[in-house]
Amino acid sequence: MFKILSKEQLNSETCLVEFHAPDIAAAAGPGQFLVLRVDEKGERFPLTIHDMDPERGTVSVVCQAVGVSTRKLCSLGEGGHVADIAGPLGHRVSGAGYGKVIVVGGGVGVAEAYPVARLFAGNGSEVEVIAGFRTKELVLCEKELKEFCREVHVTTDDGSYGRKGFVTDVLGGLLTKKKYDLAFVVGPVAMMKAVSGMTLSENLETRVSLNALMVDGTGMCGCCRILYGGEKRFACYDGPDFDASKVDFEDLGRRVSSYVEKERQALEHKCRIGLVPPSAGRGK
Ligand SMILES: Cc1cc2nc3c(=O)[nH]c(=O)nc-3n(C[C@H](O)[C@H](O)[C@H](O)COP(=O)(O)OP(=O)(O)OC[C@H]3O[C@@H](n4cnc5c(N)ncnc54)[C@H](O)[C@@H]3O)c2cc1C
Ligand code: FES
Repeated sequence: MFKILSKEQLNSETCLVEFHAPDIAAAAGPGQFLVLRVDEKGERFPLTIHDMDPERGTVSVVCQAVGVSTRKLCSLGEGGHVADIAGPLGHRVSGAGYGKVIVVGGGVGVAEAYPVARLFAGNGSEVEVIAGFRTKELVLCEKELKEFCREVHVTTDDGSYGRKGFVTDVLGGLLTKKKYDLAFVVGPVAMMKAVSGMTLSENLETRVSLNALMVDGTGMCGCCRILYGGEKRFACYDGPDFDASKVDFEDLGRRVSSYVEKERQALEHKCRIGLVPPSAGRGK
């Protein structure tokens, strides 16, 4: 069992949860993730380590309540417990030696990119961020990113905050004016594909953090298989970040949407029988 030391509702669908997990905190690094199980009957699901504090023995995650497991986690409060946490999993991002880095995040991907952006800045890179959200209420981490980034560009699809449009609208302008040494991209598959298309056509080294479906997170089950330069790789074991030029985004997109209908039915059923809160957020 892992205890929740603090829980903050960041917006109607996203929460920040801090766990007491000293062994994980001592070993965790930027870009790594956890596989959690909220209760003994729950499924295992991955969340990126948003922050870690080895001295306090804590790790935190930012969780968007999209389905059964993430809603269950967001419904817990301070003092609550989850059944298991495995981690840290995946490779750390190694972020040394880049002059200018552009980090592009979409939705909760911005919170996932936060520790990586901080690593680059800590290693002396000049970091610029483009953070895209559907609407103002869902904007995450802007203040925290501004503490160490040279510039943070926020976009909203509906224009309710920052620039109206998609991250690609801002990126297009920046790529014509500035030179970067690396792009790091985290978000929905379609967004990572569109961003990588633009950056790679400028010959900019681009890394993407892949959100493949995962179960064990250790390279055993094969669930997170991706096609990479025509060969199989496991996103959990070989990644989660990869050279975007070799990723088959079509295959990834097909695989991550394989269970959408089953997941929707499971959510409806569990809401009906009261095992999951009927709306995404505002847990305890
Ligand atoms: C390495 C990695 C890091 C991630 N980090 C974060 C994070 O920091 N914050 C966050 O909010 N989300 C993160 N995700 C996505 C998160 O794992 C899914 O939202 C979660 O598993 C959904 O489970 P559910 O039961 O709530 O919803 P479901 O209804 O089961 O699924 C909703 C959608 O989530 C995705 N998903 C479902 N099961 C899995 C699974 N086992 N593995 C991966 N994706 C799945 C699918 O696209 C699915 O359509 C990450 C995913 C990966 C692979
Ligand atoms: S999640 Fe099982 S091999 Fe990657």
